[in-house]
Amino acid sequence: MSQERELTVKKLYLKLTNNSLEDGKEVVLSGWIRSNRDNGSVGFIAFNDGSNFKDIQLVYTKETKNYETIRTFRYGSTIKVFGLVKLTPENKQPFEIQLTDAILLNDYAEDCPLQKKRQSFEFLRDIAYLRPRTNTFNAVFRVRNVLAYVIHKYFQENGFMYVHTPIITSNDAEGAGQVFHVASDLKKPNEFFNSSACLTVSGQLHVEAFALAFRDVYTFGPTFRAENSNTTRHASEFWMIEPEIAFADLEDDMNLMESFLKYIINYVLENCKDEMEFFNTFIDKTLFDKLHNVLNTPFKRVTYTEGIELLKEAVKNGKKFDYNNIEWGMDLQSEHERYLTEEVVKGPMFLTDFPKEIKAFYMKQNSDGKTVAACDLLVPGVGEICGGSQREENYEVLKAKMEQLGNEKGLEWYLNLRKYGGCIHSGFGLGFDRLIMYITGISNIRDTQPYPRTPGSLRY
Ligand code: 4AD
Ligand code: MG
Repeated sequence: MSQERELTVKKLYLKLTNNSLEDGKEVVLSGWIRSNRDNGSVGFIAFNDGSNFKDIQLVYTKETKNYETIRTFRYGSTIKVFGLVKLTPENKQPFEIQLTDAILLNDYAEDCPLQKKRQSFEFLRDIAYLRPRTNTFNAVFRVRNVLAYVIHKYFQENGFMYVHTPIITSNDAEGAGQVFHVASDLKKPNEFFNSSACLTVSGQLHVEAFALAFRDVYTFGPTFRAENSNTTRHASEFWMIEPEIAFADLEDDMNLMESFLKYIINYVLENCKDEMEFFNTFIDKTLFDKLHNVLNTPFKRVTYTEGIELLKEAVKNGKKFDYNNIEWGMDLQSEHERYLTEEVVKGPMFLTDFPKEIKAFYMKQNSDGKTVAACDLLVPGVGEICGGSQREENYEVLKAKMEQLGNEKGLEWYLNLRKYGGCIHSGFGLGFDRLIMYITGISNIRDTQPYPRTPGSLRY
């Protein structure tokens, strides 16, 4: 492999950490210019090769070959540089590269829509193919990567087995009718599979079968919802993490959610220091306080019924919601959820035991006959980030419910799980993209996804 392919800024940093970066080491690097300025005798290039969030400084002087040409290199251009490492332990940047030579691999065209000046997130969304080169998106996608890794790490280290649930399926797991249909020929939608087919809204039903064979399992993959909600928190394609645990009730489920979230937040704070520092400085100045608070406090648990009382009280005391008619049995709007988590609890909270009419068919009916053993995890700034429940394990109860809803056809296998060696079991779904919003402080889900898909928008 060529020398420049092997060496990266990241590797130089790793060498520095284990004390093997020598002053005077010869290096060849390839990457992009973030800025270039010179004062007539010495010049500085902020250089990024993509391997490390932070730029490094390249220094060139009249001694450098091609000095006059290097001075003219523009922001965004691709370059290959040759130089010597200079350790600078007294400076903010622990080392820099003194250039012996540099060559232009690709000049940055004047008409490039990505410019050095500050550009709005909205504008950058339109050039999703270029925005990874900005500091903000560089940081977002690095954190996204680390989060995906640590999610697997947590589960693998805790004895969970990873299951690939199908993307194309015949069932609408949530029963909310928000599926995208799949067909090879739109005129004959059922022909290909000899059944109607859609993109999955959740891997839960499929992964439940695996929990009843492997005990602790999870699926982590893309999910799709044809929900016509044009909000900052809804995407038509998003990723979901869905653990499912056997011999576990709602309490166990909430304990898992809490320990899992705390673990991954802590890991990101420890392992993405530069990126998180960036978010805390430029995106949300309260981010570190908020995340440390999450690590240090137990998540509050409040029942839906108590939540309704709190909302009624708020309205009595003059609080104005867009939807102000608070009644037991209503589905909470995001303004209500956010009021509870942001203004009452001021931190993450579980809302539990919802009226059965507003929740999915598979949830365990409580002994009061009115509510189900479900929970939503609400967090400030985002609202619902996780939804979970204990699953109905009673064959007769589930059968009656499915018959009432008329969704038993095609889901006989799911019902049979209750007959063939069933047990109490629980699980939850964490929205990966909403998790990124929460951890980075980025306020629009479209800015957490590489190529967002939302109603009315399918570019790239
Ligand atoms: O609450 P939901 O619909 O729950 C389920 O799908 C269950 N089957 C999960 C389970 O128990 N295994 O979705 C779970 C989470 C939500 O809390 C939210 O974070 C995210 O998925 N989510 C969305 N994220 C982005 N865009 C959307 N349109 C989303 N819909 C749900
Ligand atoms: Mg939900």
